[in-house]
Amino acid sequence: MDPACSPKRRRVGDPGAVCVERPGTKFPEVMLFVRESKMGSSRRAMISALARDKGFGVADSFSTSVTHVVAERNQPKDVWSWLKNVSAKCGLEVLPEVLDISWLTDCMESGCRLPVEDRHRLKEESEEEVCTRSSSIPIYACQRKTPVNHLNRHFTDALEDLAEGAAFSESNGRALAFRRAASVLKSLPFRVARMEQLQGVPCLGKHSLGIIQELLDLGVCKEVEKIRSIEMNRVMKVFMSVWGVGLKTAARWYRDGLRSLSEVRASPSVKLTRMQQAGFEYHTDLARPVSHVEADTIAGAIRALVPNSFIAITGGFRRGKDVGHDVDLLLTHPDEGGEVGLLCKLLQYLDEQGCVMFQDYRDNTYKGTNAAGLNESKSTMDHFERCFTILRLPLCPRVTSREDDKVTGRHEVNEAATSHYTTHPKKKIPETRERAVRVDFVVCPSSQYAFALLGWTGSQQFERDLRRYASQEKAMSLSSHHLFDKQQNTFLRANTEEEIFAHLGLPYLEPSFRNA
Ligand code: CTP
Ligand code: MN
Ligand code: MN
Repeated sequence: MDPACSPKRRRVGDPGAVCVERPGTKFPEVMLFVRESKMGSSRRAMISALARDKGFGVADSFSTSVTHVVAERNQPKDVWSWLKNVSAKCGLEVLPEVLDISWLTDCMESGCRLPVEDRHRLKEESEEEVCTRSSSIPIYACQRKTPVNHLNRHFTDALEDLAEGAAFSESNGRALAFRRAASVLKSLPFRVARMEQLQGVPCLGKHSLGIIQELLDLGVCKEVEKIRSIEMNRVMKVFMSVWGVGLKTAARWYRDGLRSLSEVRASPSVKLTRMQQAGFEYHTDLARPVSHVEADTIAGAIRALVPNSFIAITGGFRRGKDVGHDVDLLLTHPDEGGEVGLLCKLLQYLDEQGCVMFQDYRDNTYKGTNAAGLNESKSTMDHFERCFTILRLPLCPRVTSREDDKVTGRHEVNEAATSHYTTHPKKKIPETRERAVRVDFVVCPSSQYAFALLGWTGSQQFERDLRRYASQEKAMSLSSHHLFDKQQNTFLRANTEEEIFAHLGLPYLEPSFRNA
């Protein structure tokens, strides 16, 4: 009997969906499934073991991650009818390659992934049907569902590294093109296994397509490997891992001949900003990812300190990420104006407890919806009162997934943290059982809450496309404060994110699908 297709693992975008990335395999973009039927279970087991030995991923059961089905001595029509059946159960729209075992044995013999030739394919009557439905994929990320766990990480990692490399050499246009290509691949509900599947997929330029082709053929791409190995890029990445160090600063340090963080610290000519000093001081702690448990813990503790206000977790955690580089919190008050003074009070309280290790505070500079506001409506930068901080927090047990909550006892951790914020004596240095965490606070009046929530949830690429869509397709200007209709010359009100999407004529996209 064929191994069952267990439905709970199938849905792309389901936070529990397994992105079957096998780092140990030589061809991470290939996932084989050996169809047993005529072959018998012992031969199937032997072929699977051999293929694994040669560096191929082999799935034990059929799933959406399978890119190649191989069969031996089976009637093509039998294989195809089985495949359609299991694919329908999995909700898989684009079917994998269906190949004769000769392709796999040839690959194993030559030690590389050989291109699939027509003679390898087990043909179904109407091949066209098998091809994509991709022509309907929209060009703006805000019109696509992009889950946290997607199926094309092998390609998107490569394209994002190219984007980063382009940004480092100040080719911003090229960087954006690679980011858009990566972004569209993240939204595909199938793992790309052959170029034909990309016909009609938007945002893929010639260059990006060439990279994907090479990754498909060889498993690696020369240009990507080169970009990754360039010394400047590696050093820039290290410099930019320090909080407060952006591209310009990193490039300057590199031009000045500095090559490591210790050289930067030792250099008498380097003048660090206050934020960069903190970035260096807490570098080890800040480099450690923040878990969603820690994020919930902090949010819970903060909520307990300002009981009449409303605090939402935004940023990556709202999009369903399990880890992040910081915690983003949006504060508001049910009464318009009730939010004024809230953040200062909160910060003062945290500071008295010795929890604030660093703060960079900026008051509200928003001019409102008067004549000045109309000018401002062109700008997408926000002007909210905000504070970027480093707080100290009791160390949580390491957590890797939401499933682990049961194991770690999330509630106990939360309670411990809440009492920590209310009883700890003043102290500026994290103790051994504490860590430093970056926390961003933003405050908004309730009338702008929906816009602020939408703007601070991200992802950056999603926000970029949403604003571009508003401007280019609707003649509207969207910021974290408002939506301005340039034709009607009016501000459009919204109490919820759903209303903003409706103003823009877009279907509502859940935060978990905004991971463009
Ligand atoms: N943001 C912003 N203005 C800033 C910084 C951030 O509007 N000066 C918004 C961006 O829209 C971004 C969101 O806040 O999408 C969260 O920013 P950030 O914490 O940098 O990114 P995350 O998506 O949360 O990623 P991570 O999980 O790594 O923190
Ligand atoms: Mn964040
Ligand atoms: Mn942030």
